[in-house]
Amino acid sequence: MDGRLQIFSGNANRPLAQAIANGMNINLGRAIVGTFRNGETRVKIEENVRGSDVFVVQPTCTPVNQHLMELLLLIDALRRASAARVTAVVPYYGYAKQEKKTTGREPISAKLVANLIRTAGADRVLTMDLHAPAIEGFFDIPVDHLQAGPLLADHLRLARLHDPVVVSPDAGGVGRANSFRERVGAGLAIIAKQRPRPDVVEMIEMVGEVAGKTAVIVDDMISTGGTLAEAARALRMRGAIAVYACATHGIFAGDALDALEHSDLLETLVTDTIPLPDGHQRGRISKISVAPLFAEAIVRIHKDLSLSALFS
Ligand code: R5P
Repeated sequence: MDGRLQIFSGNANRPLAQAIANGMNINLGRAIVGTFRNGETRVKIEENVRGSDVFVVQPTCTPVNQHLMELLLLIDALRRASAARVTAVVPYYGYAKQEKKTTGREPISAKLVANLIRTAGADRVLTMDLHAPAIEGFFDIPVDHLQAGPLLADHLRLARLHDPVVVSPDAGGVGRANSFRERVGAGLAIIAKQRPRPDVVEMIEMVGEVAGKTAVIVDDMISTGGTLAEAARALRMRGAIAVYACATHGIFAGDALDALEHSDLLETLVTDTIPLPDGHQRGRISKISVAPLFAEAIVRIHKDLSLSALFS
C-alpha cells in the first residue's frame, strides 16, 4: 500500500520488535509507553504517522492485562494521529486458552480481546500459532496466522537426532505434531492427557512406539511446564533414550523453570515471541528467533504481496 511503513512497540517484547525493525533496515518508531502515577497506562506517539502503514508489535504476554492495554492504547493513539492503516502484530495472543466456555457462567475471553483490538482501531492482525485457530474467526478483519513449526523443525533436523519420534502431548496437538514429523522425517506418538484441575496435568495413555528412540515433544506453548514434565516422564518410562521438547511460546509461568530443571527433558527449544525469563538456563532452554519471519510477513503485507509462501 502507499504510505510509509513504520513499526512501533509496547513494552512486552522490545528486543523482538527491534530485531524485526533491524531486519527491515528501519528504526523503531518513537513513542512513550509508560504508567501514570495513578497506575493508568500512558502512551504518546512521538513522531508523525499521518498517512503511514503502521505495525504495532506487542505480544500480550505476562503481565497480560498491562500489555493488552498498551497495545489498545497504541492502536487508538495511532488511529487518532491519522495513520492510514494499523496492523496489530501479536506474536503471542494472550487469553487464547479461554476461547470457549468449559462450564456455565464463564466469559469467552479470547473473543472479548478480539473485540477490543478491533474496537481500538486495528485494520489487520498478524499473529503466530494461536492456541485455538478458531480465534481467527473472532475477528472481522484480515488475520495472517504464521506458524513457527517449520522453523523449529528445521532447527531440529539440523541437530540430526538419533531415530527421532515426534510426540504430541495431547490430542489437540496431533495435527501440529504430524506436520512437524513430516518435515523432520520421523515417527509419531500421541499422549492423552487430562486436567483434573486448572494447571494440573495427568497423563492417561500413549499411542506409538518410543522405546529406543529420541523423543521430541512438540507443543504450542509452555505455561507451568507440567505438560512437558509429565510427558517426558511417561516417555522415559516407555523406553525413550532421550527426550527433547520444542514449543512456540515460552510463557514459563510460576515454577515452570523448576519443573523443567527437575524433569527428564534434556533441552527445550522455544521461540522469542515472549522474552525468556531470567535464569532460564537452569531449565535447559534455548531459543530461536521468529523476527526474520515477522519482518518478511510485514514487508509482504505492506507491499500487498501474498503470504502463502510463509505458511509452508
Ligand atoms: C494445551 O492444550 C497446550 O497446548 C499446552 O500443552 C499447555 O498450555 C501447556 O501448559 P502447561 O505448561 O501449564 O502444562
